[in-house]
Parts: sequence; C-alpha cells; structure tokens
Amino acid sequence: MTTATLTTHTAARVDDAVKVYGSGDTAVRALDGVSVDFPAGRFTAIMGPSGSGKSTLMHCAAGLDTLTGGRAYIGDTDLGTLDDRRLTLLRRDRVGFVFQAFNLVPTLTVAENITLPSDLAGRRPDPEWLDALIDVVGLRDRLHHRPAELSGGQQQRVAVARAFAGRPDVVFADEPTGNLDSRSGEEVLGLLGDAVRRTARTVVMVTHDPVAAAHADEVVFLADGRLVDRMAHPTAERVLDRLKAFDSTQSREAGPS
Ligand SMILES: Nc1ncnc2c1ncn2[C@@H]1O[C@H](COP(=O)(O)OP(=O)(O)OP(=O)(O)O)[C@@H](O)[C@H]1O
Ligand SMILES: [Mg+2]
Repeated sequence: MTTATLTTHTAARVDDAVKVYGSGDTAVRALDGVSVDFPAGRFTAIMGPSGSGKSTLMHCAAGLDTLTGGRAYIGDTDLGTLDDRRLTLLRRDRVGFVFQAFNLVPTLTVAENITLPSDLAGRRPDPEWLDALIDVVGLRDRLHHRPAELSGGQQQRVAVARAFAGRPDVVFADEPTGNLDSRSGEEVLGLLGDAVRRTARTVVMVTHDPVAAAHADEVVFLADGRLVDRMAHPTAERVLDRLKAFDSTQSREAGPS
C-alpha cells in the first residue's frame, strides 16, 4: 500500500517482442525485438511508416494477439501466462479499445452502445463515472440516437466513451482519427487527452498524423518492426521532421529510382 505512490507504474509494456506472421519463405517478421513501456497516466503515440508493425505492437500489447517471442504485460500481469479465459477477463476489466472504424452496433442507441461491453459482461458500470464520461464526450443530447443519425466525429466519440466506460487501466486506439475530418479529429484527440489528464487513465494511440501525435506526452517511432526513437513533449513540427528523416533514410537504402 505505502510503496504504491513511490514508483512510476507501467500500465503496459512489451519486452523483446517478436511477432512472425506465417512461416517459411512467406514469413513476415512484423516485430523484431521491440521493448517499450507505456507509463501509467500518460498519453503515448506510436508512429512509423506503413507496415512498420504499429498495429501489431498494439494488438500484442493489448492481448488481442499473441507474440511469437518475448513478453507482453498489462500492469504486472504477463499475458503469456494467462489461459484464454483469464485473458478475456483481463481484456474486459483492464483494457479498452478504439479502432479506426468505429465498430458501433447500428441497431443500438448511443447509450446502449456505450454500456454494451458491461451489459455483455453482466455488470453495471459505475453510474457517476458514466455520467461524467457522457459530459466529457459531449453526447448528452444524443444518447437516444442511433449511430446512423450521428456525424463521424460523434460516432467516434461514442466509441471513445465505450472504451472508457468500464474504467480500464489502459485504452489502446489504432488510428482513431483516421476516418475523421480535422475538426472532428481534434475533438476526439482532445477527449483522449482529457481522459489522461482528468481521470489519470493511460492511452496508447497509433497515428500517421503529426498533429495528432502532438497531443501525446511522448511519441515512440517504429521502423521495420523495431523501436528506433522516442520523443518527449512532441510538437507537430518536430514529429514531421523526424518522419522526414525516415523517408530520406529509406530512399537512400532503396537507392536512386
Ligand atoms: N495477419 C497477418 N498476416 C500476415 N502478415 C501480416 C498480418 N498482419 C500484418 N502483417 C504484416 O506485418 C507487417 C506489420 O503490419 P502492421 O499492420 O503491424 O503495420 P502498421 O505499422 O500498422 O501499418 P499501417 O500504418 O499500414 O497500418 C506488415 O508487413 C504486414 O503486411
Ligand atoms: Mg496499422
């Protein structure tokens, strides 16, 4: 009890993570020995070229997929030691997800979509938490609408509320603004930042957008399945410069075309 506040917790981390898809000649080494930690109460962005392993890293760190080698932890729990049932329970109780496609259920209202994971688990989400969350995402006047009656930004805000409804330790978001215009994207990013700062949640977000990444406390960069850099207190400009450096390295390696 007394030591808990003395250390910086890690909400999630992977140690020497390797992920190989397929086998033989067609095997793809999507993660090639990645070690990275996602500190509790922080907003971390994952960036890197297409195919660099960002989604794979997120899925393995979140327990949606399993590693070929190395270890993945949520808090102190080594995901590799859990059987399917315990992994499902851990995901349900401690992890939230937001995807690029909002994945809302069209026949359910906004309110029903937000509480769906809890309803399926036979639980009642903390009413005060839910009430505050609905204000944070600004959906109080849309609770009885169905997804088709909402804008893209509003739909993604529902997906964000759903991810946080069960008070997870960590929320993983894979390009949550990828399908949104810049204004809706800003709203969703503001929400994720608020969730971190106001409710001390941990957010890990994959993005291609330097402006989106600048909302994070830190950016980690992947290239070819490896962690190649980390940047604290990112600005859109510095992130963009870092990404340009990737492009020039890659074109040098590929030779003149
Ligand atoms: N299910 C799969 N089977 C085989 N190969 C896969 C599979 N999923 C991903 N890969 C490969 O693994 C590598 C990393 O993919 P991943 O989806 O993690 O990249 P990413 O960084 O998220 O890319 P993007 O920015 O395009 O979303 C790619 O070469 C991809 O083709
Ligand atoms: Mg991806």
